[in-house]
Amino acid sequence: MTEPFDLTAIVGTGGIAPRARFATDATLLSLNGDWSFALSPSLAEAPDGIESPDFDDSGWGTIPVPSSWPVQGHGSPAYTNVVFPFPIDVPFVPDENPTGDFRRRFTWSESDGGALLRFDGVDAAGQVWLNGTLLGTTRGSRLPTEFDVSDALRPGENLLVVRVTQWAATSYLEDQDMWWLPGIFRDVTLQATPAGGVHDVAVHADWDVDRGAVLRIDAATRDGAQAQIAIPALGLAALAPGEEHVIAGAAPWTAETPALTEVVVSTATETATLRVGFRTVTIEDAQIKVNGTRIRLRGVNRHESHPDLGRAVPLTVARAEMLQMKQYNVNAIRTSHYPPHPGVLDLADELGFWLVDESDLETHGFELIGWRDNPSDDPAWRDAYLDRITRTVQRDRNHASVILWSLGNESGTGGNLAAAAALSHSLDPSRPVHYEGDYDCEYVDVWSQMYPTQSHVDAVGRRAEQPLADAALQARRHAMPHLLCEYAHAMGTGPGGLSEYEASFDTYDRTQGGFVWEWVEHGIRQRTADGRAYFAYGGDFGEPLHDGNFVADGLVDADRVPRPGLADYKKVVEPVKLTIADDRASLTIRNRYDFVDTAHLALTWSVQGGAGGDLPVPAIAPGDSATVPLSSEAAAGALFTVRAVLAQDAPWAPAGHEIAWAQAGSLPAAPAAGPGSDSVAPETAGDVITLGPGVFDANTGHLTALGAIEVDGPVVTLWRAPTDNDRGVAQDRLDLPSDAELWRRGGLHRLRTRVASIDATGDVLRVTTHVGPAGTDHRVQVVLEWTSDGTALSCSATVTPHGDWPSDWARVGLEFALPWAADGVEWDGLGPDQHYPDTGQAARLGTFRVDSARDLHTDYVLPQENGSRAQVTRLRLGAPSSSGAALQVSGEGFSFTGSPWTSAELDAALHTVDLPEGRAFTRLTIDLAEHGIGTASCGPGVLDPYRLTPRTVTGVLRLQASASR
Ligand code: GAL
Repeated sequence: MTEPFDLTAIVGTGGIAPRARFATDATLLSLNGDWSFALSPSLAEAPDGIESPDFDDSGWGTIPVPSSWPVQGHGSPAYTNVVFPFPIDVPFVPDENPTGDFRRRFTWSESDGGALLRFDGVDAAGQVWLNGTLLGTTRGSRLPTEFDVSDALRPGENLLVVRVTQWAATSYLEDQDMWWLPGIFRDVTLQATPAGGVHDVAVHADWDVDRGAVLRIDAATRDGAQAQIAIPALGLAALAPGEEHVIAGAAPWTAETPALTEVVVSTATETATLRVGFRTVTIEDAQIKVNGTRIRLRGVNRHESHPDLGRAVPLTVARAEMLQMKQYNVNAIRTSHYPPHPGVLDLADELGFWLVDESDLETHGFELIGWRDNPSDDPAWRDAYLDRITRTVQRDRNHASVILWSLGNESGTGGNLAAAAALSHSLDPSRPVHYEGDYDCEYVDVWSQMYPTQSHVDAVGRRAEQPLADAALQARRHAMPHLLCEYAHAMGTGPGGLSEYEASFDTYDRTQGGFVWEWVEHGIRQRTADGRAYFAYGGDFGEPLHDGNFVADGLVDADRVPRPGLADYKKVVEPVKLTIADDRASLTIRNRYDFVDTAHLALTWSVQGGAGGDLPVPAIAPGDSATVPLSSEAAAGALFTVRAVLAQDAPWAPAGHEIAWAQAGSLPAAPAAGPGSDSVAPETAGDVITLGPGVFDANTGHLTALGAIEVDGPVVTLWRAPTDNDRGVAQDRLDLPSDAELWRRGGLHRLRTRVASIDATGDVLRVTTHVGPAGTDHRVQVVLEWTSDGTALSCSATVTPHGDWPSDWARVGLEFALPWAADGVEWDGLGPDQHYPDTGQAARLGTFRVDSARDLHTDYVLPQENGSRAQVTRLRLGAPSSSGAALQVSGEGFSFTGSPWTSAELDAALHTVDLPEGRAFTRLTIDLAEHGIGTASCGPGVLDPYRLTPRTVTGVLRLQASASR
């Protein structure tokens, strides 16, 4: 009979003490692959006797290992952010507890020595048998468990059986904001342990500013064997373990210079190989320093999530995304909120990232009941806290990339966290401890916060933060460096406000940067009945309790396709700052790297439509600036651009890859938009007014045709389909509803128009309308004055608020409904991607072209406003070929949105696939003013300078049907 499975246990049983991961020449057998599998709705209903070799599993199916079973056709994923999806009844979990049984036969051909069986990740609790013998149990979903199977393993065929339950007491410790995805989702490996082999290796690889590389290796061997240490590349052999060695010729490791030295630890029977980076982390002068130098964190939070595979992210995908991070100037990763696949640590060492390695811990759901029964302060749970931090530190301690241990995330505070901090310090005194939830910084070494306002960060930088009540704690925290473990919530259109954070990081030593929340969206790919793919989010699998699309908030989508915010982040954190003097006589280059000079970069310059070339610049030391003269040609053109690119191939990008850029000047002026001298007069005939190429409806004042092009509009709009950020209650405006809610209450989405007058006298067609919502008296007066020189129309618009507007506006837009799909969109202005008042730092001036308005749109998982292009002086939309023309709009720097969908359609859609494709329709909104974006989906809202308060807004546009398409 199968042994009872005690789900109330808070730590695993039967495993060996945690040890480091390292490459070895001992025999390894991967047990990944297809396993026999059956899922039962509860532990009670799971079959008995599965561990027995005689058990008949012929009726079972198979499942790949590693995998998350809900994305393999067994049950379904479920998403909650904070709330537990089961009653809080500590330490119990519901009887409805999906239970997966796994069986696999394998052949072991070693006959000597023992073996270890390793599970790198079992979510949530496992019970493991080998050849009918219970080896023990696993806890800590994202932590490894190793069993010594020397006695149970036999040469020849073996049977491995694992029972996994979705819920266990430890689920109370694993309440991270992500899908609940049970399974054996990381590798399963059998490793031979030859007698006299290497059991564990602890690397102490410091970079001493005076002595250079200092190495001490502690090796634990089996059977008292003697270990030898060698560094073949440096010709060093027979270094004694347990002693310090100064390693001449080794280079220091930093995220900018990830120099690794291969160290070989061997006994007579086993050789372990480690790639060691020499570096020392210290906290001095309220700064985190590496090798004595302050570092700047340009980070992201990285979860492990895959749209088809759930939490079983292949290492090839991890590698590709880490290359992508490097390409986008990201230099740091917080492994939110658990230790990643062990291969990620190797990649971080190799490619160069600062890692905050976080333990697998979050008890956030207790916050919803006032932290009652929170395990963090309950001695009964202490072992689990100590177990988790130990396993995190012991697995990853040999990795140079790890600069901070993080105790976990959002678990309140309490004695168990303090004890975990103390244990981390004693296990590894070389690295400081991070935990954001220790608000008073009683047991951590760095002050970490999430989502504070930009002005708060600035105050921290000035060392002028609001002090803690306790003077001793205040003094302690005041001496700490500051980082943002989460900021700039990258959900939907946005994030807005990055530049203001960057200003503090760049100005003060103490504020060392942070980690955008988050790198990748966790959407799960689903298909409509007719086969169209989309990313599903919370609620899409029928979960009774869920947090909707809050699981989709990344700089890249679930397929790792960059969102516009990633390019903005790259620009904002660029490690080299280029500043063109106002007179364009010189360029100042500021090196914002911490360790490398600028010799790896080449500078190029170009003048739009004209000359260009290389810009020789001497290598500039980290932290230094240099000013170099620019040639007179730089001043000659209207628009001047300088770029810093990789001079040579890097391991993560080819030569020529752009790192930083700057521009000066403007695009060539568009044709004057105002009324010309040779104006023609409007002519009224029945219901139609004609003015030059324009045909107007004499009742509505709408332009209905421009030459041969059909149009309809404009109507004034003050609304947009709320973004995720518009919908959020801003943390700096907690007393107010969200912007979206205020707009709704103000009726911005249901404005009605009354034509006050249409006056076609003299050379001007003046259309005056009043536009406001039903049921109240706030409105805007819109005056459009149309003139024409016979070939083009000029429209001078004045929008004036009347009455007491209860909210800011989303935009002041002149909206046209075009009964055709634009065939090619070209503009002079900022591009290639979107720009709002507080986003779009990556947008640069130029001429851009896309094939259709559809290509201006970003497929955020929840459709919403996006795609505005700003500072446009000329826009061309290819009209239907029957017209033989293009609609051209010019002006002195307007924004436009060209979309296949109305704002109401975007607002109503819940998924990308809800929006109809292929219609003969384009919404063209010409914005004379726009509201910023902010990050109120989690964090501060739109900062004051970017808020669109009701005010008089004016603009002048020139509209023309250009002869050629
Ligand atoms: C933080 C949390 C993250 C995530 C984020 C919002 O509070 O640590 O895990 O939930 O908010 O997306």
